[in-house]
Amino acid sequence: MDEYFVKLNTVSKCVPALKSLIPMLEYKLVYGQNNAANLNEEVLKNDEKIYGLIKRFNVDKESKISIFKVTPNSCYNWHTDGIRCAALNMLLAGYDSMALMGRKDGIFFRDVERVPYEPDRYVLLNTSINHSVYNFAEDRYLLSLGIPMEFSYQEVANYIKENEL
Ligand SMILES: [Fe+2]
Repeated sequence: MDEYFVKLNTVSKCVPALKSLIPMLEYKLVYGQNNAANLNEEVLKNDEKIYGLIKRFNVDKESKISIFKVTPNSCYNWHTDGIRCAALNMLLAGYDSMALMGRKDGIFFRDVERVPYEPDRYVLLNTSINHSVYNFAEDRYLLSLGIPMEFSYQEVANYIKENEL
């Protein structure tokens, strides 16, 4: 299993509904670093296996289902997530962007890999690994399901494999 991320096979059926929500939501600064709007898990009910994962890992219990917004020509600097062990993400808009993961080595980041976002596909990220986002042409909107710290990236990756997500 990859230490950085896992690409899921699941093709989302919820993207049209999610995209229609984008302009209606209010994006607020959370954790002092993200422009985010929280969603109810019901919007993902048609992605049955993802919905099962949400219930299994208590993603809904702490309002950890969000759409993150990054404005054009912005960089979300290198960091690790302190409040979640992993994130199950899907890029909804803003493909002129790069999400990178890597290991800190002084002023460098080494072993850098680009997160392979594709339309309608989920990627599980190990958010204890340093990551950053560079966004260019348009607003970038990312669906992000935060897995609480009581679990581990490994556990979620195993669940995805066992349940053929
Ligand atoms: Fe992050």
